[in-house]
Amino acid sequence: MTNKRYLITAGLPYSNGRLHVGHIAGAYLPADTWVRYRRACGDDVRFVCGSDDNGVTALIAARKEGKTPEELTAYYNASQARDFAGLGIEFDVYGGTHQPDFVEQHNRICQEFFLTIHEKGYFTKKTSTQLYDAEANQFLPDRFVKGTCYHKKEDGSVCGYAEAYGDQCEACGNAIDPMELIDPESTITGTKPEPRETTHWHLRLDEFEDRLREWLESKRQASDENPAWREMVLNFSLGQIKSGLPERAMTRDLEWGVPVPLDDPDAKGKALYVWFDAPIGYVSFTANLCARTEGDATNYARWFKDPDCRIVHFVGEDNTIFHTLTWPAMMLAEGSYQLPWQVIVNHFLNIKFPGKDETKVSKSRGTAVWIEDFLQTFDADPLRYYLTAIAPESARTAFDFDDLINRNNSELLAAFGNFVNRTMSQAHRHFEGKVPGVGERGDVDLAQLAEIQAAADRTAAQLEAFHFKAALGEAMGLARSANKYMDDKKPWKTVKNEATRADAATTINVALQTVRGLATLLAPFLPASGAKCAQMLVLEGDLPEALPWSEAAKELPAGTTLGDAVMLIKKLDRDKLFAEEAD
Ligand code: MF3
Ligand code: ZN
Repeated sequence: MTNKRYLITAGLPYSNGRLHVGHIAGAYLPADTWVRYRRACGDDVRFVCGSDDNGVTALIAARKEGKTPEELTAYYNASQARDFAGLGIEFDVYGGTHQPDFVEQHNRICQEFFLTIHEKGYFTKKTSTQLYDAEANQFLPDRFVKGTCYHKKEDGSVCGYAEAYGDQCEACGNAIDPMELIDPESTITGTKPEPRETTHWHLRLDEFEDRLREWLESKRQASDENPAWREMVLNFSLGQIKSGLPERAMTRDLEWGVPVPLDDPDAKGKALYVWFDAPIGYVSFTANLCARTEGDATNYARWFKDPDCRIVHFVGEDNTIFHTLTWPAMMLAEGSYQLPWQVIVNHFLNIKFPGKDETKVSKSRGTAVWIEDFLQTFDADPLRYYLTAIAPESARTAFDFDDLINRNNSELLAAFGNFVNRTMSQAHRHFEGKVPGVGERGDVDLAQLAEIQAAADRTAAQLEAFHFKAALGEAMGLARSANKYMDDKKPWKTVKNEATRADAATTINVALQTVRGLATLLAPFLPASGAKCAQMLVLEGDLPEALPWSEAAKELPAGTTLGDAVMLIKKLDRDKLFAEEAD
């Protein structure tokens, strides 16, 4: 079977602030884990991300920080890139829709995209009444206005969320028409906006309802070729189609963004809607990557237009409709793109600080765990482990520091770190730092060896289905069985007696085979630890070459010289950590 190619993206973060653990759990960590798994399987993968620089969010933050939007987005683009690197989240390209190396190509591809849709007649040009801030002298698109959400809930009552922005309600997830907001208020001046007329280009989403419905329905049936989509993603998206997809304005009264490429006086001073240009960032950053690595930017088509490639988007819950409806509709309207193969949506994370109640992430109330801060005290792997173990795959979950410390010490360290450590130190102490020769393997030994491949298959099955939490559970199951094996066989005792020394050799041999298996299965989740294990076993190359999935159960030959034992997972001391915090 020839391996597929995969173009994998994680939602472009707004470059208007730092990254917190919720962002990571929602999109970037599962995406990176899946990319690493695919690469370990030998697949040809491109992992694409970058910052979402355009639109109102950047302007609001720039205003607050007294910077130009260029300065602000450059600053946070770099800050976010550092955070990703610190977490071992490695993109092939990290672009930015308004970053100097990207903006020109991005604007061109967006404008061509827009013009093609325009020529095909899928836009309606319409003059309508919009909210205008007379004090700031400007229209109030998107987050420049907030008010109370008017959407009806399933039981017929009104959502009523008082902090809904002019683009989307974060409480009910619905798109917002700012004109319908109850008690609208300008977020620039706090004044009550007035209605004024303006002209915009609207994408006729209704044209694509049938094709979108058919495509989404086809994603319900699980097969090897098509792992089923998450239920809530399909239900929510199909529900939106059922209630009818209204036209959506794809232009804005804004100077900051991709200029509307029309020779039309009504297009003056207008930019493409940020949710029009941002997903095209996936394309333009891929074009940048292709130009850099292959000398030909147009090779992006090999990823976006060739059915041999599968497009996978990882996003947070508030991005759902944009990736299952608007962006696919744009692709259909443009006509030459293929639709995403999979859209993985996660919920948000709540936060629980020691001794405090669980709350939502809030920058203003200081209830966010910033990656930059976290990485000053912790290694990346414990966080990656924890965020996968509590992955908000089907509901909100809470990031709880006590839970993080407990799981680090009682799961990651106790089951995985200690097992590798015990195995390596005994190999060094008693077998000259080499893989010992095997004596006769008994049932217990054979069962442990068989467990390596079995665990690899179970972990792979869960990863293929995008069940990250369950996949990690399967991989850790191998660690638990390995510890039990050691405890049963007690090599530290048998090694001391001439009559049983051969059995100790067999045990350490099997344990080392298990270390290789564990390292292979855990490397997509815990790349730093995986790389350290590969070094200890002196496997050649960097990840993933050092630990290909197909060789999880391949035996290290007896006599192989091992590397030095290095510590994988540190014990975390709660009292010390929080004492330091208090300083
Ligand atoms: N910036 C958006 C957010 O953080 C995500 C944009 S994803 C893209 O919610 F598809 F538009 F790129
Ligand atoms: Zn709402």
